[in-house]
Parts: sequence; C-alpha cells; structure tokens
Amino acid sequence: MISATGVRRSFGGVEVLRGIDLSVAPGELVTLSGPSGSGKTALLSVLCGFDFPDSGTVTPGPAAWSACAVLPQSLGLATELTLEENVALPLRLRGLPVGPVADVLAELGIADLARRYPAQVSFGQQQRAALARAVVAKPSALLADEPTAHLDAVSADATIGLLRRVADDGAAVLIATHHDAVHAAADRVLELAGGRISSGSRRTAP
Ligand SMILES: Nc1ncnc2c1ncn2[C@@H]1O[C@H](COP(=O)(O)OP(=O)(O)OP(=O)(O)O)[C@@H](O)[C@H]1O
Ligand SMILES: [Mg+2]
Repeated sequence: MISATGVRRSFGGVEVLRGIDLSVAPGELVTLSGPSGSGKTALLSVLCGFDFPDSGTVTPGPAAWSACAVLPQSLGLATELTLEENVALPLRLRGLPVGPVADVLAELGIADLARRYPAQVSFGQQQRAALARAVVAKPSALLADEPTAHLDAVSADATIGLLRRVADDGAAVLIATHHDAVHAAADRVLELAGGRISSGSRRTAP
C-alpha cells in the first residue's frame, strides 16, 4: 500500500505540493505524469521517507524501509560496487540468498555487465541495474522515478514488463514518467499539476 493524505511541501516559500491525496493498492500499477518541475520527484521523496511533508501523512514513509523499494531519478548506485554487487545489496542486508540476482540482470539484458562498475557502463545500463536492485528482494511497495528516461524502445519494454509483473505479483507500484508506453501499462494515470493531483481515472485502452 502506498498512500498520501493532505500532503503539503514547500521549498523556499514556494508550495510545490498543495494537498496531495492518493493511494495505490497492492497489485496496482499507477503512473504519475506532469510537467518537469511539477513536483513528481518531490512527492516520491516524501512517500518513501527521503523527505518529510510539512503537513499530511504518508505510507510507507520513513518507518518502513524494508517494505519499500525506490528507483530514484539519480539512481544512487554505489560506485565502488559492481553491478551484481549493487543488485545483491538488498538481499545481503536481509541475509537472503543472492540467487535471484543473475535472473534479474538477465531479464533486463545486462547479465554480461555484471562484473563491471557503474562508471564502466552506459547511463541506461546503470538505470537498469538500479531497477534490478529495486525489484530483486520482492518489495511490497515500489516507487520508480522516470525508470525509462534513458532507454531505447527494447530496453524500455523490458523495464515496463518487469514493473508490470512486480505489480501483478502483488506490489503497489507508483511510477513518475513522461513516457506514453509506461502510462499504457498502468491501471491508472494520475496527473500532477499546480501542486495537486488532477485526475485519477482508469486508463482507456490504447
Ligand atoms: N530540495 C529542494 N530544494 C529546493 N527546491 C526544490 C527541492 N526539491 C525540489 N525543488 C523544487 O520543487 C519543484 C519540483 O521539483 P521536482 O524535482 O519534484 O520536479 P519533477 O516533477 O520531478 O520534474 P522532472 O520531470 O524534471 O523530474 C521544482 O521547482 C524544484 O526546483
Ligand atoms: Mg523528477
């Protein structure tokens, strides 16, 4: 479950989030659209506990790190670890076997790059490694910020397919994106504009 109730957040006197209400149920994939600067990243940051709202409440928020995976717009890969070590991290931190790492890397087409460091691969390949790290431990909530921003159509399709499957397996998935192909895979599309969520209708068939 991902939810926000009455969330407000200002930066330097400018109110970016002006009373946000949303909820994403387990098994649901919801996309968040909105122009650059509309507050999508700010909202995801509050939802996952990277940042705090000035008022309002969120779930999961900071208390539930183990339950919520995040794919930040800035990726946040550890530069001193290889791609496979980065992806294994959420499993190792929980004492789980690292067997799933190879499967996820293969599904995203970066198995050949497993032993390379982030600086030795392209940005789109780093992006897929960050996605692999987000999904490998089967989180119950996933927040992804522009997960296809640097990908070609084939890689984007693999990413979208994986995100859809994570939702179908029971996770609540919220994705900030500008890409129509991601919206087309969603159960609902939310629009963030003027600091508010302005629509929440079920998508129509493409
Ligand atoms: N920590 C911060 N300090 C000051 N201003 C901030 C901070 N974080 C975000 N902002 C401002 O809040 C607004 C929303 O930024 P945000 O990054 O959420 O936009 P976005 O919708 O994710 O845009 P994009 O599509 O370009 O990623 C912007 O005007 C930004 O400059
Ligand atoms: Mg953003």
